[in-house]
Amino acid sequence: MEKVVSLCKRRGFIFPGSEIYGGLANSWDYGPLGVELKNSIKSLWWKKFVQSRDDMVGLSAGILMNPKVWEASGHLKEFSDPLVECKKCHTRFRINEAWSEEVWWSLATNLEESVKFQDKEKFVQDTLKECPNCGVKDQFTMPRQFNLMFKTFIGSAEGKSSEAYFRPETAQGIFVNFKNVLNTSRKKLPFGVAQIGKAFRNEITPGNFIFRTREFEQMEIEYFVHEKDWKKTFEMWLHEMKDWIKELGIDLKKVHEYEHPEKDLSHYSKRTVDFEYDFPFGRKELYGLAYRTDFDLRNHEKASGENLKYRDPETNEEFWPHVIEPSLGVDRTVLAVLLGAYDDSDPDRVVLKLKPELAPYKAAVFPLLANKPELTKMAREIYGDLRRDFSIAWDDRGNIGKRYFSQDEIGTPFCITVDFDSLEKKDVTVRDRDTAKQERVEIKNLREYLGKGVC
Ligand code: GAP
Repeated sequence: MEKVVSLCKRRGFIFPGSEIYGGLANSWDYGPLGVELKNSIKSLWWKKFVQSRDDMVGLSAGILMNPKVWEASGHLKEFSDPLVECKKCHTRFRINEAWSEEVWWSLATNLEESVKFQDKEKFVQDTLKECPNCGVKDQFTMPRQFNLMFKTFIGSAEGKSSEAYFRPETAQGIFVNFKNVLNTSRKKLPFGVAQIGKAFRNEITPGNFIFRTREFEQMEIEYFVHEKDWKKTFEMWLHEMKDWIKELGIDLKKVHEYEHPEKDLSHYSKRTVDFEYDFPFGRKELYGLAYRTDFDLRNHEKASGENLKYRDPETNEEFWPHVIEPSLGVDRTVLAVLLGAYDDSDPDRVVLKLKPELAPYKAAVFPLLANKPELTKMAREIYGDLRRDFSIAWDDRGNIGKRYFSQDEIGTPFCITVDFDSLEKKDVTVRDRDTAKQERVEIKNLREYLGKGVC
């Protein structure tokens, strides 16, 4: 993990947020290479799940929404984590994470049954024992639910009437636009709406680099079906998600499906399966797939008074479609991709074995020697030409070996070198990142060569 974090900083993938002011804890900014990687992931996802499918359309809704959305969706009441604080070191802990779901479950059920406050207090201290941070014994505050939504105010007046929330999931933008999308796209069930965008959660325990942050990006699909079809659609999306993970080049041996027990399901879900990944800090959630039933459309209809039902064109039956939701974090995808691609098994070089489709640069172009204008001229022409279709790096510093290693470390699949033979034969050397093998390719065929290798 440290090696990947360090490479990200050193080579311009990911920087600590607001660094010149001493940073802002657990915030991260994507640098020139990181934004390319992130954009490639998002566009691959969009291509696979929106543009290549007849049953999908896209959407881009606002981050700020009418606060009634969060009342109807249950987030105001339910979107919280169980929190305790150590009275000595003031570290806050999510009980289910710092201890376990079982500990939280035992506290939650037993606290309701105990009568006197002293009994409850003793029960909490006896269950949690010592602070995981400073080790002090029996010094916990009483557990409380902490709502994870970020609150803000719209306009100049701060008061109840101007309160708003940064969305904690992109999903609700899709539900509140369900009728608009249905009326304008004329889609028939089953169909899905996809959205990529930022979400915000005031996490109690952010950390592990970009794994858990308070501002992050999601790629979500709300897939609408007839209730009777939910089980087979759930299976279809399990398969699609696995296929996506494979397509990213993530090692499936490191990915595990975790079925949520009924008592741990979110307030809207009847079935959830997480795709967990073996991160260096443990096996943790990468993505989630949930069966949200008709919970959201039903509640939004009730709260807004708008008819959000679907009318079956054949039977004329009117009903709220049920929803299967594949929900994917962009940043966790970036992290899993980077961790899987990092390879320092060769003592001489570090290679980021990214799938070529994801690599920030598809190729780098160099003149063999920087001080030979005729080589530079030809290399510049090739660089300018290829850049029209691919993202290409230019490098004429140092010696050729250093340039290769520098490109290996950022995952560039091909290095193209213009040498003296190129001037006569109109061909170049193309070196493959993974095998380090080189071959001669005619300049006129370079576009096709790269196209086959990286698209
Ligand atoms: N709409 C359903 C939903 O939001 P979730 O399991 O809470 O479900 C979905 O979040 C995905 O979003 C997670 O699987 C993860 O990839 C990503 N995610 C959630 N919280 C995150 C955080 N604090 N930082 C980074 N990614 C996060």
